[in-house]
Amino acid sequence: MSQPSAQPDRGSWATRIGFILAAVGSAVGLGNMWRFSYIASEGGGAAFVVLYLVIVATVGIPILTSEFVIGRLSQESPVLSLQRLAGPAWRPLAWLFVVCGVGILTYYAVIAGWTLRYAVDGLRGAIRGDTAAYFGSVSEGGDAVAAQLVVMALTIWIVARGVKGGLERANLVMMPALFVILIGLALWAATLPNGGPGYAYYLRPEIGELFSGRVLAMAAGQAFFSLSLGMGTMMTYASYLRSQTNLGREAATVALTDTAVAFTAGLVVFPVIFNFGLSDRIAESTVGALFISLPAGFEQMGTAGNVVAFAFFTMLAFAALTSAISLLEVPVAALVDGWKMSRPRASVISGIVTALIGLRAAFDVDIVGASDQIVGNFLLITGGFFICLLAGYRLRAQADAELAKGLPNPAARRAWLVFVRFIAPALLLVVMYSALGPTWRALLVLLGFGG
Ligand code: TRP
Repeated sequence: MSQPSAQPDRGSWATRIGFILAAVGSAVGLGNMWRFSYIASEGGGAAFVVLYLVIVATVGIPILTSEFVIGRLSQESPVLSLQRLAGPAWRPLAWLFVVCGVGILTYYAVIAGWTLRYAVDGLRGAIRGDTAAYFGSVSEGGDAVAAQLVVMALTIWIVARGVKGGLERANLVMMPALFVILIGLALWAATLPNGGPGYAYYLRPEIGELFSGRVLAMAAGQAFFSLSLGMGTMMTYASYLRSQTNLGREAATVALTDTAVAFTAGLVVFPVIFNFGLSDRIAESTVGALFISLPAGFEQMGTAGNVVAFAFFTMLAFAALTSAISLLEVPVAALVDGWKMSRPRASVISGIVTALIGLRAAFDVDIVGASDQIVGNFLLITGGFFICLLAGYRLRAQADAELAKGLPNPAARRAWLVFVRFIAPALLLVVMYSALGPTWRALLVLLGFGG
C-alpha cells in the first residue's frame, strides 16, 4: 500500500467525475477567459491555436500527469511527501508551492472580486457611460477591497468544508453552470450581425508565427498557467484520489477540456468586440478588453445587455472561484497534513493571511500585474521545471510504477518519460529565460522602485 502517513480524516473525492471537474475547475480560470484568446490573436491566430495544442500535448499533459502521479503516490501534502519520497533537498520545492499558492491568490482574489462586482452591477445596468472610468473606480481602493474580501470569505468557506463536501460539491455545481453559460454565450455571439470580422481576426492563420521563438514561449507559458501547473495544486488534488484509474487519460481529459473552454471563450469575446465596433481597443490591455470593452458592448444592447453581462461575469466569477479554492488548498493541505491542524482552522488562517497580503493588490492595480509576472509566470515555470526533474529522474521508478496501475501499456509510459525527462524541461528553460527581463522589472515594481 502506498498510503503510509495518510490520516484517516484528510478526505478524498467521492467520485471520479468529482475529481475531474475539480481539476478542470482549477484549470479553467481567468487565464482561459481572456488571456488565451488575446495571446492567440497576437501570436498568429489559428496558427497559434495549433501550436498551443502541440504544446499542451507535449508539455502540458506530461507535466499534469506527473503532478497527478506524485500526488496519488504520496497521499499527502507535498510539504511532507517531497521530503519523505525524494529527500530533504526537495523540501524547498514544496515551500515554493505554498508561496506560489498564496502569492497567486493574493491578486487572483482581487480580479475575482471585480468579476463578482461586474456580475451584480451588470445585472442592475449600473455599468454604463465611460466604462473605463467605471473600471477605474471599482478596480482599486475600498470597493476592490470589499469585493476581494467577499471572494476570500467564499473561498475559505468552501475549502473549510472539506474535499468532498466543499471542493467537490462546489465544482459539481459551478462547472456545469459555467459550461452551459459559455456555450449559450458562444451561440448568442454567433447571431450578432457584425461579429464576422471578429472570428476572422481571432483565427486568421499566420503560418509564419508558428516558427517564432517568442510565440512558442508565449504558448508554453500560457499552457502552463492555464493548466494550473508548477505549484503542486494538481498534486494536492490527486493526493485525495483513492482509485487506480489511468492518470494519463485523466490528465488528457482535463487538458483538453481546459483548452476547449479557452478556445470557446475566444468565440465569445472577439465577435462581441467587433460587432460593437470596439476593435480599436483590443490591444489596450488584456484586462481592459474584458472589463472595459465588453461591458461597453453589452451596454449598447439595452436591457438584454444586462442579462448578457450578468451571465458573462457570473461565468467569470465561477471560473475564478473554482480556481481560487484550489489555490488555497495548497497551503491548507500543508497545515492539515504537516501541522495536524483542523481543516477549518487551516482554511481561516491561510485565507486571512492571503487576504491581508492581497490588500496591497486591491489598492494598486500595478501590484496585480507585477505579482502575476513574478509568481504566475516565473515561479510557476521554475516549479514546473523541478517537477519534471522530480518525476523524470529522482522518483522515476516509483512514478512509473504508480502510473502503471492505471496505464499498463509500457510504450505509453515510455513516451511520457521522454517528454518529462527531456522535451518539457528543455522548453521550460527557454520560457524561463525569456521571462527573466519582465520578471526583473516586475520585481522592481513590487519593491516600490519602478512604475
Ligand atoms: N489556471 C488558472 C487560470 O487559467 C490560473 C492558475 C494558475 C491557477 N496556477 C494555478 C489556478 C494554480 C489554481 C491553481 O486562470
